Amino acid sequence: MAGLYLSFLFQLFFCLSCPATNPSMLNVHLVPHTHDDVGWLKTVDQYYYGDRNNIQHAGVQYILDSVIDQLQKDPARRFIYVETAFFYRWWKQQNQSTQRIVTQLVNEGRLEFINGGWCMSDEATTHYSAVIDQMTLGLRFLNDTFGECGRPRVAWHIDPFGHAREHASIFAQMGYDGFFFGRLDYQDKARRMKTKEMEMLWRASESLTPPLADLFTGVLPNGYNPPEGFCWDQSCDDAPIRDDPDLEDYNVDEIVQKFLNAGFYKANHIIMTMGSDFQYENANLWYKNMDKLIKYVNALQAKGSKVNVLYSTPSCYLQELNLANLTWPLKTDDFFPYADDAHDFWTGYFTSRPALKLYERLSNSRLQTCNQLEVLGGPKSKSGPFGEGDSDTMSKAMGVAQHHDAVSGTEKQHVAYDYARRLATGWAHCEVLVRNSLAILSGSEAPHVFCENLNISVCPLTESSHKFSMNVYNPLGRTVSWPVRLPVNGSVYSVTDANGRAVDSQVGNVFISLKCTCYIYDMKSSCLLPLLSVRWYNASAGNNKESPQTSGAYIFRPNSSDPFVINKTAETQIVTVSSTVQEVTQWFSPWVSQVVRLYEGHRELELEWTVGPVPVADGLGKEVITRLDTDIKSSDYFYTDSNGREVLERRKDYRPTWELKQTEPVAGNYYPINSRAYIKDDKHQLTVVTDRSQGASSLYNGSLEIMLHRRLLYDDYRGVGEPLSEPGDFSDGLVARGRLLLTFTPPDTAADVHRPLAQGMVLQPLLSFQDGTPSANTKLEFSGLQTDLPPAVHLLTLSQWDEDTVLIRLEHQYQAKESKTHSQPVTVNLQKLFSTLDVLGASEMSLGANQWKEDMDRLQWNAEKTSKPLPLSAKDPSPWEVTLNPMEIRTFLLRVRQL
Ligand SMILES: *[C@@H]1O[C@H](CO)[C@@H](O)[C@H](O)[C@H]1NC(C)=O
Ligand SMILES: *[C@@H]1O[C@H](CO)[C@@H](O)[C@H](O)[C@H]1NC(C)=O
Ligand SMILES: *[C@@H]1O[C@H](CO)[C@@H](O)[C@H](O)[C@H]1NC(C)=O
Ligand SMILES: *[C@@H]1O[C@H](CO)[C@@H](O)[C@H](O)[C@H]1NC(C)=O
Ligand SMILES: *[C@@H]1O[C@H](CO)[C@@H](O)[C@H](O)[C@H]1NC(C)=O
Ligand SMILES: *[C@@H]1O[C@H](CO)[C@@H](O)[C@H](O)[C@H]1NC(C)=O
Ligand SMILES: *[C@@H]1O[C@H](CO)[C@@H](O)[C@H](O)[C@H]1NC(C)=O
Ligand SMILES: *[C@@H]1O[C@H](CO)[C@@H](O)[C@H](O)[C@H]1NC(C)=O
Ligand SMILES: [Zn+2]
Repeated sequence: MAGLYLSFLFQLFFCLSCPATNPSMLNVHLVPHTHDDVGWLKTVDQYYYGDRNNIQHAGVQYILDSVIDQLQKDPARRFIYVETAFFYRWWKQQNQSTQRIVTQLVNEGRLEFINGGWCMSDEATTHYSAVIDQMTLGLRFLNDTFGECGRPRVAWHIDPFGHAREHASIFAQMGYDGFFFGRLDYQDKARRMKTKEMEMLWRASESLTPPLADLFTGVLPNGYNPPEGFCWDQSCDDAPIRDDPDLEDYNVDEIVQKFLNAGFYKANHIIMTMGSDFQYENANLWYKNMDKLIKYVNALQAKGSKVNVLYSTPSCYLQELNLANLTWPLKTDDFFPYADDAHDFWTGYFTSRPALKLYERLSNSRLQTCNQLEVLGGPKSKSGPFGEGDSDTMSKAMGVAQHHDAVSGTEKQHVAYDYARRLATGWAHCEVLVRNSLAILSGSEAPHVFCENLNISVCPLTESSHKFSMNVYNPLGRTVSWPVRLPVNGSVYSVTDANGRAVDSQVGNVFISLKCTCYIYDMKSSCLLPLLSVRWYNASAGNNKESPQTSGAYIFRPNSSDPFVINKTAETQIVTVSSTVQEVTQWFSPWVSQVVRLYEGHRELELEWTVGPVPVADGLGKEVITRLDTDIKSSDYFYTDSNGREVLERRKDYRPTWELKQTEPVAGNYYPINSRAYIKDDKHQLTVVTDRSQGASSLYNGSLEIMLHRRLLYDDYRGVGEPLSEPGDFSDGLVARGRLLLTFTPPDTAADVHRPLAQGMVLQPLLSFQDGTPSANTKLEFSGLQTDLPPAVHLLTLSQWDEDTVLIRLEHQYQAKESKTHSQPVTVNLQKLFSTLDVLGASEMSLGANQWKEDMDRLQWNAEKTSKPLPLSAKDPSPWEVTLNPMEIRTFLLRVRQL
């Protein structure tokens, strides 16, 4: 018996089996890989099956078949796989013997998962909450399927069009040892190659104590492609290695010579990406030629060559760099905006497809609500009075939507429809779950109706019913006051809350029309805001001597830096001024209008904009912005958030890490905003909170502009092959509508207002309606929490994990030093959180929930010294009481029992 136990003990993990290197030579790590977009020119299904190969030849199922076959032929061969959305599908279709073979390849480190999220997320237009969820989804599948050997060590964003600091912070907190990418500004790259700064340590947070958010970051030498002349895929034209010396076309020496020039890296190791988009469908071609390359290059060592070529993986390469114990340059800003040439700034996609961007954001809110109600309603919420529901379909649809050609807006139109359809299907599954859960929690099975079109003021139930009740589920961890607007048919309503108390309300139907240039005076500050001017940039058609670059789905390139003002003499209608809301509607033109609202008791001004269909009959593409001009003395500075979390300082015509040669005065100053942007001086701060990701800039002192919509007539030559001209419902162009919340505050209290405002915008209450009066035994009020969370704490995740475990993420939502009141450590008692759950145990996990916190052991790196004082972190007072430091997210698996 003892022997049996021993054999178990010796089964340790050898999954990271790295090939031997040679310390006295230049080691060239060949990394065989494929880049499989989770939708772009084709839908994710078409890519998986290899359907519609007339659009693009690509079939992921064949890639995995072929690679697994080739890996078995030689234990030296390696392959990395990245996109779990695809791998998951393929795995499910394999028989047991194939699954066993794959498991062995994974255990032996011959097949290695890298990155491992459901997709490779976009970095400019995603919100951190959805990014963390999509990573968790992929990483969980890998851990459930392969255990520790399936855990990716390296984050791999070879294609995204610029890199967000918050992504680096998230990867660090998920336990990754390093991060590699392909794209960065061409000026930045040229400088880094010269100074050997292609690899660095990225300190990705100003609030978290190092090394919590420190991430080793490497720029790949050839984007993500093989070096020139070495592409041996069936899709490439490069010459194969012809190694028969008796034949005339013998080319080994020539190929080997070509290979021997590298040299802008610090260590005696270099990484070579051997693969590209959807490559390895016939993996034999690649492996056969790489086998030869390795053999002949290394054979030259006998004649004194100092080059050693090997099959490797990013983790093995990283391990060697770590062993080299060098000191790396420190990076503290981010990699936006990305330009690949002087007039080619990838800043258009920050706004491309504004309706999809909003729908993705709204879907995130719904998914969080769905997840929470699954926990609070218990097991019957998945199978209850309204049938079978689930949150998984929505999780997967959201996972796919984070891809760098999905929410980014850089996919073909038919693929954009497919993403939206998936989200709608996801919500349909969630809707059943939510109905079940609300029935369980309220004790009433009267059906709840959701009004999908409240955004355009359509809700058949409220419009036809004389008496109805409205349910509001608030997914935030605290009480909020939320104005609700409903379309109704009558003119006199009495509105009461759950306790029968009257609620402030009004029915608006008085229109007074007048013409003026409108200003709104904000009572809390002494700032006069001239309202909106809406303008449009005339898109470049590429008829330009310096560069033929057009404006398109990716690229923003205006024909001129001066946008046209839309209809200066706006016709203004004051709708109403009452005790609850002041509302002003402005029509700038038949396709641009805006409603400005100031709610009683709220400090923010709401701008609801409607833009479209953008007319293009004049042959001009248009990029529509709203520009806020104030008397704030902001000079060249403005501030934008990173994936909805920490804020970075921006400065016009300036980059913190290199001497910028500005070649596009507008497009080269655009940055992504995911939740907010602001300008400030000593006395005032104007903050704009957005409802989706957009592009923004400040080009003049006191001015802040946000791009709302774009409609273009030309493709921009980055592969999508279509002009960005969304047809909308009636094929005459998409109408986009959205909200901006504006606050004027002194700078030192601004965060106290914009942090909760932005979280409220992201996690919106879910409204549902019931006709008539609720039955007598209906429970009208319910809270899943025992009490409100402290103001600094945000409930980021609450979702069912296994039968009796739930995953919870608590987040400190303030940065260090940004709020006098809230930028302090705050403590929460995990046992006293929920009203319906008994918490029996808690285990802390990494941010990605694929590793226990106590097992996390990341590689350590030496950075060049910083002079900035580093923030300190406070400790937990007891096992149940957990302390959150500014910007910290803590992830726990709770063992629970329903009360
Ligand atoms: C499993 O699938 C592989 C690949 O499709 C096939 O070659 C093999 O014969 C199958 N094995 C069994 C036992 O069905
Ligand atoms: C790594 O380098 C640092 C100095 O940069 C030195 O203090 C340390 O001892 C080195 N570690 C090893 C394992 O060589
Ligand atoms: C309103 O919301 C629906 C989905 O609920 C969406 O399809 C539609 O595009 C939205 N309309 C506008 C004008 O945003
Ligand atoms: C609104 O009320 C009128 C009069 O009661 C009725 O004729 C009409 O059908 C109602 N409209 C809707 C959309 O229910
Ligand atoms: C707008 O841009 C187009 C394309 O570059 C150009 O041909 C046209 O003259 C511009 N129109 C105006 C009014 O500036
Ligand atoms: C703007 O349009 C004019 C007129 O067609 C053209 O000469 C100029 O090159 C365009 N500039 C850009 C940047 O597209
Ligand atoms: C300007 O606005 C007025 C009022 O909405 C509208 O009638 C007119 O058509 C607009 N002009 C243009 C050029 O859009
Ligand atoms: C990873 O999966 C294994 C089963 O493969 C499980 O026992 C383990 O608890 C999982 N780890 C985490 C951190 O969830
Ligand atoms: Zn890609």
